[in-house]
Amino acid sequence: MSWSLTVALGARAYPIHIGSGLLSDPDLYRPHLLGSQVMVVTNETVAPLYLEAVRSALEGYQVGEVVLPDGEQYKTMEVWNRIFDALLQARFGRDCTLVALGGGVVGDMAGFAAACYQRGVGFIQVPTTLLAQVDSSVGGKTGINHPAGKNMIGAFHQPRAVIADTSTLATLPQRELSAGLAEVLKYGLIRDATFLSWLETHMAELLARDADALAYIIRRSCEIKAEIVAEDELEAGQRALLNLGHTFGHAIETATGYGTWLHGEAVGVGICMAADLSARMGWLTDVDVERVRRLVASAGLPVAAPNDLSADRFLELMAVDKKVQDGRLRLVLLQQPGDALVTGDVDPNLLRATLDAAAS
Ligand SMILES: NC(=O)c1ccc[n+]([C@@H]2O[C@H](COP(=O)([O-])OP(=O)(O)OC[C@H]3O[C@@H](n4cnc5c(N)ncnc54)[C@H](O)[C@@H]3O)[C@@H](O)[C@H]2O)c1
Repeated sequence: MSWSLTVALGARAYPIHIGSGLLSDPDLYRPHLLGSQVMVVTNETVAPLYLEAVRSALEGYQVGEVVLPDGEQYKTMEVWNRIFDALLQARFGRDCTLVALGGGVVGDMAGFAAACYQRGVGFIQVPTTLLAQVDSSVGGKTGINHPAGKNMIGAFHQPRAVIADTSTLATLPQRELSAGLAEVLKYGLIRDATFLSWLETHMAELLARDADALAYIIRRSCEIKAEIVAEDELEAGQRALLNLGHTFGHAIETATGYGTWLHGEAVGVGICMAADLSARMGWLTDVDVERVRRLVASAGLPVAAPNDLSADRFLELMAVDKKVQDGRLRLVLLQQPGDALVTGDVDPNLLRATLDAAAS
């Protein structure tokens, strides 16, 4: 069983294919390859598992590969440059296509390389983590980290297609599965209260990797993301809602050194903090906040920030967030479960109370 959705972006519209066994289907790649040169960008963990299947789908093309070291700590300018070394060494031209095979780190780096190589070439996302299948492979945000801030260098560059093979999730470590669930909870919280309730009652099946349950949440998450991206491709407004929990989460990731906390784990705590602040703002009830915390915990995610991360350090790191406008911090908060808003109007005392409470 497989499904195809479309990200409706006019001339840049593209399909998202979701299903089992898609990795080696040539028909999903071919319509999106301009010339005959294809560079597969992957990492040292994913390559031995899935590179061969992708290569088999690309028979007849001139296929190169770049195998990057594995980890968020390698999402750097230096490692990113290896993609250009490979492209130039193989004399790839402007009609080449990059295929990003891996999780969000590989997808973000390969996508950003595609945005920049010879001023822009095509790329296809082949996400192999839950997080990448429900979130990072869709929407065209690409980039790398800077020691001072996460994803601070990047570009909007939409893929030509997303091929999400759900059978790749069988080899994903449990901790990574939980990390992906953080982004799934986010969709329910910002847009779809019915989906949120469904997640509450089906968490055990998801953690046990029930194939139908996983396929359903990937589909529903991609539908919501595709809808939001189509409305606001460059994040002039509504798209910022997708950052629920991320301003707090990015601060945790930067403070602890990239790669210690998983992105999804930091987002899970960030979601709890956003709920806490939403209650202090008078929007959520204490019962709602407890519900959010329970849901995040039930996905196998942490709910408290590292206890050595002070409110002052949090504020310093949050000031580097991309949602800061004119030096003013903007946060995504919840009006109720299933409905979020972006606000620059947060009482600093309430924010400090949330930051102080976060590590306890
Ligand atoms: N561009 C966006 O819109 C967007 C959205 C959300 C997150 N992100 C970014 O995504 C990144 C996080 O992505 P992630 O959670 O996928 O992390 P990741 O790419 O580091 O992958 C997680 C781990 O799983 C391994 N792996 C991947 N597929 C596997 C498989 N099928 N079987 C076994 N192991 C596998 C990877 O090698 C890695 O060790 C962060 O850098 C974050 O900033 C981007």
